Amino acid sequence: MNVTFRQLKVFEAVARHGSYTRAAEELHLTQPAVSMQIKLLEGQAGLALFEQIGKKVYLTEAGREMHHYSRTIAQELNEAARVMEELKGVQRGRLVIAVASTANYFATRLLATFSQRYKHITISLDVTNREGLLRHLDNNDADLVIMGRPPSQGLELVAEPFMENPLVIIAAPGHELVGERRISLQRLQQETFVVRERGSGTRTAMERFFTDKGVDLSTGMEMNSNEAIKQAVEAGLGLGIVSIHTLALELELQRLVVLDAESFPILRHWYVVHRLGKRLSPVAQVFKEFVLTEGAQTVRMAR
Ligand code: PGA
Repeated sequence: MNVTFRQLKVFEAVARHGSYTRAAEELHLTQPAVSMQIKLLEGQAGLALFEQIGKKVYLTEAGREMHHYSRTIAQELNEAARVMEELKGVQRGRLVIAVASTANYFATRLLATFSQRYKHITISLDVTNREGLLRHLDNNDADLVIMGRPPSQGLELVAEPFMENPLVIIAAPGHELVGERRISLQRLQQETFVVRERGSGTRTAMERFFTDKGVDLSTGMEMNSNEAIKQAVEAGLGLGIVSIHTLALELELQRLVVLDAESFPILRHWYVVHRLGKRLSPVAQVFKEFVLTEGAQTVRMAR
């Protein structure tokens, strides 16, 4: 049926008033305009919707059916208008966030605190490595991305730092370097490192650091998760370099130890990032403010 909202609105008014004249008055239309809209609607329905008895018009059976649907459509439209209004605020809506695998150790805490404040917001979280995050930015399919310093070349981005991200060297408690002070970078060259996969921000930062210092590190196994690295180091497969944010219980339970090495920790920062020119939704805007102003403190309190 090729029916317009205008026809349904006119139909609803005639049905309610039982009169073309009064419907015309309410809608500020002429009476022939009202009759025309009803005729068009009846043409589409293929049935008469009203019958005139005396001065009053009554719904036919087909008219009553049509009235049922037109009321439902009107209610749905009102509901749509209400939801649109809500989306202009921050009471409702969807927040699509992508975070670095390393950032996930604190991102869930940030999202939990945020969603306690804004209970009706639906959050979608993708956890991936730096390379995956750059893809999200390229596709512009996330509201915000939480990652290490984004590249200065390529995409035009807005990136604001909100928290430090120190990278440290971890060892098993029984490792011979545990307890040594200011281990030299040369000494580290004699060790094997378990490293993150290519595409990881931690890996890139680590490689850049050692290249800048002219140190040639020997890398052993490559693993695509911080958890796997921590377990490998604990099992004595080598030393590891991870963000301090990935460590909590392991240090407390003394399953891993942070080594005291020269020029360490490697100091990085976490950034909240989006494409330049992106129109952030009100919800994304509020989340970004929250991360920038309260992010570091929220994470600190949870540790
Ligand atoms: P990642 O961390 O190693 O999990 O990719 C991102 C980053 O530090 O930039």
